Amino acid sequence: ISLKPLNTFGIAKNARFFTAVDSEMQLKQALVWAKNQNQNVLILGGGSNILLTKDFDGLVIKIEIKGINLIREDENYTWVKVGAGEGWHDLVRYAIDKNWAGIENLSLIPGTVGASPMQNIGAYGVEIKEVFESLDALNRSSVQMETFSAEACKFGYRESVFKHELKDQYVICTVVFRLKKKPDFRIEYGAIHDVLKEKGITELSIKAVSDAVSEIRMSKLPDPKKIGNAGSFFKNPTISQKQFIELRSVFPEMPGYPTPDGVKVPAGWLIEQAGWKGKRIGEVGVHAKQALVLVNYGNGEGSDIKALSEKVGQSVMEKFKVQLQPEVNFI
Ligand code: EPU
Repeated sequence: ISLKPLNTFGIAKNARFFTAVDSEMQLKQALVWAKNQNQNVLILGGGSNILLTKDFDGLVIKIEIKGINLIREDENYTWVKVGAGEGWHDLVRYAIDKNWAGIENLSLIPGTVGASPMQNIGAYGVEIKEVFESLDALNRSSVQMETFSAEACKFGYRESVFKHELKDQYVICTVVFRLKKKPDFRIEYGAIHDVLKEKGITELSIKAVSDAVSEIRMSKLPDPKKIGNAGSFFKNPTISQKQFIELRSVFPEMPGYPTPDGVKVPAGWLIEQAGWKGKRIGEVGVHAKQALVLVNYGNGEGSDIKALSEKVGQSVMEKFKVQLQPEVNFI
């Protein structure tokens, strides 16, 4: 079966076997089948953070476990348990409708709820770890459910335990979020201010913030339905304070945000300065409005994107001595 419609890069690779599961029971059956048949397994959510570089010789399982259920509330919070297969933005919309705050800055992020803790999705000053309560995941070898607290997930910038020690060992089935009844608006991210001001919005609301974020995203990020992409291709690198000061003396305009580990530098800026913004090589390229996004214009291969990402990485290394790390998972 072709995986082209199942990955937002639109890469035309195939899977030997494919199934979609909408319950824990079906997921267990699929995993047991794969084990008995000695097949590798690839778990797929929205396919919005993967780069397929070859056919998958095994079973692809698409997670379609649905449901958004209020499980608890007090005067300040509501806890919602959400199926991994719900679309992330569908959850954001649902929360806005109910007036539950905390994820409005994460509007319009592609992908599913199950994938959101995997890399602690974040945008416009918010990461999901701030509203995350727990998740239930199926242990692929024991075929038993286990619960993970926020601490057990070891969230970091675009990181969790599921990308490291526990890589490929669990399937996230449901996630519990703790959303706020009283919003605590986070609009310190410059562009949000500008959009709200432009629209003449003085009275903040969850919806207004969500709309502002959506507007910014739509103006910069390509719609995967039209141009294949997986959002930011690289992570924003953190460099030492010393290296930052040295680079600043050569590139006085270089932006940087202090973090506990050093200075975080926007990879998009580095890539743009290295001359890659808007460049196209055959069927693939660097997006013209946001250099951190690599795009597939239609018939590109995963290997073309990979080769492009390596060239971009080399240029940035040569010019700035900064190593870029992909954010996207290579399959
Ligand atoms: N910049 C450039 N040229 C570019 C792009 C960016 O110079 O082509 C510089 C500008 O100085 C700009 C700064 O980079 O002020 C930051 O750009 P932007 O606000 O677009 O954010 P980003 O750092 O490029 C990160 C996330 C995005 C998230 C935005 C907004 C990562 C890897 N990416 O991008 O997340 O939406 O911030 O918070 O951290 C994703 O993970 O897929 C993603 C889209």
